[in-house]
Amino acid sequence: MSAPNKSYDPVEVEALKPEEIERMRDEALAAFAAADSLDALHEAKVAHTGPASPLALANREIGALPPHAKADAGKRVGQARGAVNKGLAARQAELEAERDARVLVEEAVDVTLPYDRVPAGARHPLTTMMERVADVFVAMGYEVAEGPEAEAEWFNFDALNFLPDHPARQMQDTFFVQGPKGTEESGSGVVLRTHTSPVQARALLDRELPVYIVCPGRVFRTDELDATHTPVFHQIELLAIDEGLTMADLKGTLDHMVQSLFGADMKTRLRPNYFPFTEPSAEMDMLCYVCKGESIGNPDRPCRTCSSEGWIELGGCGMVNPRVLTACGVDPEKYSGFAFGFGIERMLMFRHNVEDMRDMVEGDVRFTRPFGMEI
Ligand code: PHE
Repeated sequence: MSAPNKSYDPVEVEALKPEEIERMRDEALAAFAAADSLDALHEAKVAHTGPASPLALANREIGALPPHAKADAGKRVGQARGAVNKGLAARQAELEAERDARVLVEEAVDVTLPYDRVPAGARHPLTTMMERVADVFVAMGYEVAEGPEAEAEWFNFDALNFLPDHPARQMQDTFFVQGPKGTEESGSGVVLRTHTSPVQARALLDRELPVYIVCPGRVFRTDELDATHTPVFHQIELLAIDEGLTMADLKGTLDHMVQSLFGADMKTRLRPNYFPFTEPSAEMDMLCYVCKGESIGNPDRPCRTCSSEGWIELGGCGMVNPRVLTACGVDPEKYSGFAFGFGIERMLMFRHNVEDMRDMVEGDVRFTRPFGMEI
């Protein structure tokens, strides 16, 4: 090829002969047709339409033609370049369509294939246990009641007939958030509630009689964390106040609860005890749901769940002390009722053979997972 010839050379240029132009066009079209990928087509495009391509160089030769030949040559080169560009665009479209079709197949996602799911979380067994117990009573028409965890000392102790010198009020048992204000007046401090029983007093002051409530919640005592103690634990409290309620109603309610939770052949027993806010008071035991009492005095049939005692201690109960009713503005001549409360951690321990309470507070999913996905 020669450079543009500005010297008006009348000799016709070799590169602009019609056969030559046609050959360049056909070679370009053949190269496009032969390109089997977009990359190959790009290479062919540079070779046949770029500034160093035969047609581009031929175009530059037009200036060297005598004037009478210029228009003709220009037209032929122009047409050839037009055809080449059109052929290039057509092949480009073809290859792109092929690529798109291939990507659709190759990158298709089979939505029916199983995949690694992020394991879904589950609620803590303490929560589901508390709700299961509460549900037994909700089904009987009880309402779920709640109270604050940082509680007035008066509700936690005084309203419940704990006298000012009762040992439970001491710092070594109770977390004081705020001590008695100014004077040493009993009941004016703020404590982390040591039991769910203050909700009894709150319910009696807040609600219309009769009152039938169940109160699950968190409670606090200054215990060190070990296999059988934790400073933060859970209780569920029940309070029923109506006309004519007796200890027989308490016993029937307890029996119904253990039968709902542990099976139809379950029962409870009461042992005398003392709580300031119930009179009479009792400790409540349930039949061991594993040995059903058969391990008692029977060395051939030892029971790990109840240590062959035949009974498992649940918690405290009793008839609400008339002093509590009076403190909460309820006439003890007209109304009576019963209350009980027990720890959820303990129930979870014997119901599921959990040996160390620390497992319940550490939050390790390997502990909670075997309880299943209850929601
Ligand atoms: N509040 C008592 C405790 O924490 C349990 C209890 C509740 C006893 C209701 C009698 C009535 O030990």
